[in-house]
Amino acid sequence: MSEADPHWYKDAIIYELHVRAFRDSNADGVGDFRGLIEKLDYFQDLGVTAIWLLPFFPSPLRDDGYDIADYNSINTDYGTMRDFKDFLKAAHARGIRVIAELVLNHTSSEHKWFQRARKARPGSNYRDFYVWSESPDKYNDARIIFKDFETSNWAWDPVAKAYYWHRFYSHQPDLNFDNPSVRKALMRVIDFWFSMGVDGLRLDAVPYLYERERTNCENLTETHEFLRMLRAHVDERFEGKMLLAEANQWPEDAVQYFGEGDECHMAFHFPLMPRLFMAIHMEDSFPIVDILSTTPSIPDVCQWAMFLRNHDELTLEMVTDEERDYMNRVYAQESRMKLNVGIRRRLGPLLANNRRKIELMNILLFSFPGTPVVYYGDELGMGDNIYLGDRDGVRTPMQWSADRNAGFSSGNPQRLFLPAIIDPQYHYESINVETQEENLSSLLWWMKRVIAMRKQYRAFSRGDFHLVSSDNPKVLAFVRRHGNEHILVVANISRFTQVVHLDLAEFAGMIPEELFSGNDFPAIHRRPYVVTLTPYGHYWLELVQRERKTSTGEAESIPMLNITGDWTNLFTGASLKAFESSLLPAVLTRSGWRPTISRAARRASITDVIPLKEAKEPYWAVIVDMALPEGRTKRFCVPIAVATERSAQELEDEFPTSVLARVRRGDEEGIVYDGMVGR
Ligand code: GLC
Repeated sequence: MSEADPHWYKDAIIYELHVRAFRDSNADGVGDFRGLIEKLDYFQDLGVTAIWLLPFFPSPLRDDGYDIADYNSINTDYGTMRDFKDFLKAAHARGIRVIAELVLNHTSSEHKWFQRARKARPGSNYRDFYVWSESPDKYNDARIIFKDFETSNWAWDPVAKAYYWHRFYSHQPDLNFDNPSVRKALMRVIDFWFSMGVDGLRLDAVPYLYERERTNCENLTETHEFLRMLRAHVDERFEGKMLLAEANQWPEDAVQYFGEGDECHMAFHFPLMPRLFMAIHMEDSFPIVDILSTTPSIPDVCQWAMFLRNHDELTLEMVTDEERDYMNRVYAQESRMKLNVGIRRRLGPLLANNRRKIELMNILLFSFPGTPVVYYGDELGMGDNIYLGDRDGVRTPMQWSADRNAGFSSGNPQRLFLPAIIDPQYHYESINVETQEENLSSLLWWMKRVIAMRKQYRAFSRGDFHLVSSDNPKVLAFVRRHGNEHILVVANISRFTQVVHLDLAEFAGMIPEELFSGNDFPAIHRRPYVVTLTPYGHYWLELVQRERKTSTGEAESIPMLNITGDWTNLFTGASLKAFESSLLPAVLTRSGWRPTISRAARRASITDVIPLKEAKEPYWAVIVDMALPEGRTKRFCVPIAVATERSAQELEDEFPTSVLARVRRGDEEGIVYDGMVGR
C-alpha cells in the first residue's frame, strides 16, 4: 500500500463479503478470487476502502468456512494461492485494504491437529491441542451459543474415548490455549498471512479462548494476556496491521478487547446494533442514547466497528429479555426468521423494504463514532430467503444484473452454491447492480454519495461524539467534532414529521451548512434551535463560522463607523451615507421584505431620528423614506440601537446576524444593531 498511515482503519469504509457469494469467474456455481478481481472497479466506485473476506480456507463448510481444516491455504473452490495473491495485489494497487479471518478459538474436526489429537496419548502435547475431559460435567457455567443445534458444549469422541470442548458446533473443537504449542502454532498462522500482505485480521469468537471452572468461560484474564502477547508479536514484526475483535459482549466487556491500546485495534459494537432496530420501531431514540452514553471511552488509537447487518443472525444476546421479546415480535413474525438467539434476515426485509428507513439506518451507521462495515448486497437493498437453512438465507449470490443467476455466474442455475433471490419483492431482476447503476435515484447511488461525503470529513471517522439535548425523543441529534470540523447530525427516527428544539448554545454564531446541497440553515443563537424533519428525515450539517453573506452570496464584511461627539452623530456625514446605502437595506432584506421592496431599499433616505429615552443605551426609531419602483414613496420606521462592552458581546453571540456595523467613539467601541432584537 502506498499510504503509510498506521491508523488507516479509523478512516476506513469496510465492505464485508464472502468470496463464494460474490462473483463466479469459471461457471462452476461458486464465487472465486478471479471473480473478485473482476469486480474491483465496483468496490472503488462504491468508495469502500477495505474488504473483509469471510473464511476462504479449506473447510468441510459445515459452518460456511468457520470450520477451518487448514489455516495456510485456499479452498480450491475459490481458486489458488496465486489467485489470492493476485487479488491482494490488485486491491492494494487501488488503495483497497484486505482483512481476513483468524478463527483462533476452534478448528474443524477435520483439521489435522484434531485428527492427530484424538489418536494421541492422553496427556501428550498433541492430544492437548484441544480441551478434553472424561466427563461432560465441567465448565457448566458456560452458555450454549448455537442453542438451536447443540445441547452441550461437550461432545464424545469415540476415537479418543473422551469428551472434547466446543463452544460452537460439535464439529468445531476448541483449541486449548493453555498449551503453549497451540499459541505458537497460531502465531505462525498470523505471520503467514500478514507477511503475505493481508492488512487486518478479524479475531473470530475471541472471548472464548480459555476455560476456567466457576466462570462463564468468557472474557477471562488469560484471554487478555494472550491478546497482549499476540499484539506485541504483531507490532514487533509488522507495521500498519489491524486486529479486529469479534466479541459479542456488553460495552464494558467489549472495551476490554482494546486493552490500553495494547490488544486489538478495533472491536465490533455489538450492543448498539439491535438497539438501532429497536429505536426505529419504537420511534424513540432512548435505546440508542442509552447504549452510546454507557459505552466507555476507548484508547485513542482504537476504533469501534459499526454495522447494521452481517453474515450471521441479527444477534439478540446483548439485550434484556423484554427487549428480545420485543425484537422477535416486531422483526421475526415467522418462526423461520429466528435462529439461535437472533433473527436471520437482511437489512432490506427487516426494514420492510422501506427506502426511507434504509437510508436513515445507513445515515446513522455512517455518523456514529466508529468505522462502518457494510454487508455485501445491503447497498442494493437485497432480500433474503428464510427457507434456506442456518444463516444461508442472508448469504445468497450477489445480484449483479437481471441476467441468468443474477449475473453472479454463467453456470447451470442448479449448480449454484445457493439459489439467487427470486422473491417477488426482491427479485434479482429488479434489485441488482446494473439496474441501480442506471438510475441515479437508486439506493446504490445514494450509498455512493453518502460514502463519498463521509470520506471528506474526518469528524466522522475520528471526531469525538456529543449528544445534543433535544425536547423531542423521536429525534436524535449529536455533534461529531474533529479540530475545526463540527458536524451536526439530526435524525428523525419516527414515521411522522417532527419538530425539535435543540440546545446548540455553545455553537451560537455558527451557521449550519447542509452537506449535500451546500445550503445554509439559519444561524445558531443561544436560544433553542428549531429543526423540522420529514418522516425518517435526517441532516448532516457542518457548523461553520464564516463571514455573513449578502443576499447575492457575496461575503459581507461588517463596516466600521467612526464618530465623535453625541451618539446621534451616527446619522450624519459618512456614517449617514453608510446607513442609507447599505445598512438600512440590509436590515430590510433580512427582515424578510419582498425582493422588490428590498431592492428599492437601496434608495432609502433617513427623514427623522427619534431617540427613545427609556433605553439604557442609545436606541432610536429611525424614519426612512423609500422610493418604490412605481414612483411612490413609502415610509418605514426602523429601530436601530447601539450596544457597548458586555451587552455588545452578548448581543453579538446571541444575534450575530443583527449586527449592522461596529462603531468607535473616542475610546469607546460597540456595535450598531437591528433594534428589533435583543431588548
Ligand atoms: C463467529 C462467526 C460465525 C461462526 C462462529 C463460529 O461468530 O461470525 O459465522 O459461525 O463464529 O465460528
